[in-house]
Amino acid sequence: MAMYSKKVMDHFMNPRNVGEMENPDGVGEVGNPKCGDIMRMYLKIEDNIIQDAKFMTFGCGAAIASSSMATELIKGKTLEEAWDVSNKAVADALEGLPSIKMHCSVLAEEAIHKAINDYRQKQNLPLWGEKEEEKPE
Ligand code: FES
Repeated sequence: MAMYSKKVMDHFMNPRNVGEMENPDGVGEVGNPKCGDIMRMYLKIEDNIIQDAKFMTFGCGAAIASSSMATELIKGKTLEEAWDVSNKAVADALEGLPSIKMHCSVLAEEAIHKAINDYRQKQNLPLWGEKEEEKPE
Protein backbone atom coordinates (compact mmCIF):
# COMPACT_ATOMS: atom_id res chain seq x y z
CA MET A 1 0.00 0.00 0.00
CA ALA A 2 1.36 3.39 -0.91
CA MET A 3 2.25 5.62 2.02
CA TYR A 4 1.14 8.81 0.32
CA SER A 5 -2.06 9.66 -1.49
CA LYS A 6 -1.99 10.61 -5.16
CA LYS A 7 -2.78 14.18 -4.14
CA VAL A 8 0.26 14.36 -1.87
CA MET A 9 2.49 12.99 -4.61
CA ASP A 10 1.02 15.45 -7.10
CA HIS A 11 1.64 18.47 -4.84
CA PHE A 12 5.10 17.20 -3.94
CA MET A 13 6.19 16.57 -7.54
CA ASN A 14 4.45 19.63 -8.91
CA PRO A 15 4.06 22.16 -6.09
CA ARG A 16 1.79 25.15 -6.68
CA ASN A 17 2.81 28.70 -5.75
CA VAL A 18 6.40 27.90 -4.95
CA GLY A 19 8.94 30.72 -4.86
CA GLU A 20 9.62 34.05 -3.26
CA MET A 21 7.31 37.05 -3.47
CA GLU A 22 8.41 40.63 -4.01
CA ASN A 23 7.04 43.09 -1.49
CA PRO A 24 4.77 40.69 0.39
CA ASP A 25 2.26 42.18 2.83
CA GLY A 26 2.88 39.40 5.33
CA VAL A 27 5.58 36.78 5.80
CA GLY A 28 5.56 33.87 8.20
CA GLU A 29 8.49 31.58 8.82
CA VAL A 30 8.17 28.54 11.03
CA GLY A 31 10.32 25.53 11.72
CA ASN A 32 10.09 22.21 13.42
CA PRO A 33 13.10 21.74 15.69
CA LYS A 34 12.70 17.97 15.69
CA CYS A 35 13.09 17.39 11.96
CA GLY A 36 14.74 20.73 11.16
CA ASP A 37 12.30 21.52 8.37
CA ILE A 38 11.55 25.17 7.62
CA MET A 39 8.57 26.73 5.88
CA ARG A 40 8.19 30.34 4.80
CA MET A 41 4.88 31.72 3.55
CA TYR A 42 4.34 35.01 1.71
CA LEU A 43 0.99 36.76 1.41
CA LYS A 44 -0.37 39.56 -0.77
CA ILE A 45 -3.36 41.07 0.98
CA GLU A 46 -5.82 43.65 -0.29
CA ASP A 47 -9.14 44.62 1.28
CA ASN A 48 -8.75 41.85 3.87
CA ILE A 49 -8.54 39.24 1.09
CA ILE A 50 -5.54 37.04 0.33
CA GLN A 51 -4.87 37.94 -3.29
CA ASP A 52 -1.80 35.76 -3.63
CA ALA A 53 0.22 33.29 -1.58
CA LYS A 54 3.63 31.77 -2.20
CA PHE A 55 5.92 29.55 -0.21
CA MET A 56 9.47 28.32 0.19
CA THR A 57 9.88 25.10 2.10
CA PHE A 58 13.08 23.36 3.00
CA GLY A 59 11.72 20.12 4.22
CA CYS A 60 10.21 16.74 3.60
CA GLY A 61 7.81 15.83 0.83
CA ALA A 62 4.77 16.07 3.09
CA ALA A 63 5.82 19.57 4.19
CA ILE A 64 6.17 20.65 0.56
CA ALA A 65 2.81 19.13 -0.37
CA SER A 66 1.21 20.75 2.71
CA SER A 67 2.58 24.19 1.84
CA SER A 68 1.46 23.86 -1.73
CA MET A 69 -2.06 22.83 -0.70
CA ALA A 70 -2.22 25.50 2.01
CA THR A 71 -1.43 28.29 -0.47
CA GLU A 72 -4.13 26.94 -2.78
CA LEU A 73 -6.67 26.78 0.04
CA ILE A 74 -6.12 30.33 1.34
CA LYS A 75 -5.98 32.20 -1.95
CA GLY A 76 -9.11 34.33 -2.34
CA LYS A 77 -10.11 33.88 1.28
CA THR A 78 -10.60 36.61 3.87
CA LEU A 79 -8.03 36.75 6.65
CA GLU A 80 -10.60 35.30 9.07
CA GLU A 81 -11.35 32.37 6.75
CA ALA A 82 -7.64 31.75 6.11
CA TRP A 83 -6.95 31.78 9.85
CA ASP A 84 -9.48 28.97 10.22
CA VAL A 85 -7.73 26.71 7.68
CA SER A 86 -6.46 24.08 10.08
CA ASN A 87 -3.72 21.55 9.56
CA LYS A 88 -6.49 18.95 9.40
CA ALA A 89 -8.14 20.84 6.55
CA VAL A 90 -4.81 20.85 4.70
CA ALA A 91 -4.30 17.12 5.33
CA ASP A 92 -7.90 16.35 4.31
CA ALA A 93 -7.49 18.33 1.09
CA LEU A 94 -4.40 16.18 0.42
CA GLU A 95 -6.61 13.11 0.92
CA GLY A 96 -4.84 12.32 4.16
CA LEU A 97 -1.31 12.14 5.51
CA PRO A 98 0.28 9.25 7.38
CA SER A 99 0.01 9.95 11.11
CA ILE A 100 3.79 10.33 11.51
CA LYS A 101 3.58 13.07 8.88
CA MET A 102 0.72 15.08 10.40
CA HIS A 103 3.21 17.47 12.01
CA CYS A 104 4.22 18.56 8.52
CA SER A 105 0.72 19.93 7.96
CA VAL A 106 0.91 21.67 11.35
CA LEU A 107 3.80 23.69 9.96
CA ALA A 108 1.50 24.95 7.20
CA GLU A 109 -1.16 26.08 9.67
CA GLU A 110 1.49 27.83 11.78
CA ALA A 111 3.02 29.52 8.74
CA ILE A 112 -0.40 30.89 7.69
CA HIS A 113 -1.00 32.21 11.20
CA LYS A 114 2.42 33.81 11.41
CA ALA A 115 2.12 35.46 8.00
CA ILE A 116 -1.34 36.85 8.86
CA ASN A 117 -0.08 38.21 12.17
CA ASP A 118 2.97 39.72 10.47
CA TYR A 119 0.56 41.62 8.23
CA ARG A 120 -1.65 42.62 11.17
CA GLN A 121 1.34 43.86 13.11
CA LYS A 122 2.45 46.01 10.17
CA GLN A 123 -1.09 47.44 9.98
CA ASN A 124 -1.17 48.10 13.73
CA LEU A 125 -4.06 45.69 14.09
CA PRO A 126 -4.43 43.46 17.16
CA LEU A 127 -2.73 40.11 16.72
CA TRP A 128 -4.77 36.94 16.63
CA GLY A 129 -3.99 33.90 18.75
CA GLU A 130 -5.10 30.41 19.58
CA LYS A 131 -7.02 31.35 22.73
CA GLU A 132 -10.76 31.81 22.44
CA GLU A 133 -10.63 35.56 23.19
CA GLU A 134 -7.82 36.09 20.68
CA LYS A 135 -9.55 34.38 17.77
CA PRO A 136 -10.93 36.46 14.90
CA GLU A 137 -14.60 37.36 15.32
FE1 FES B 1 9.18 17.54 9.57
FE2 FES B 1 7.91 16.85 7.48
S1 FES B 1 9.30 15.63 8.55
S2 FES B 1 7.94 18.78 8.38
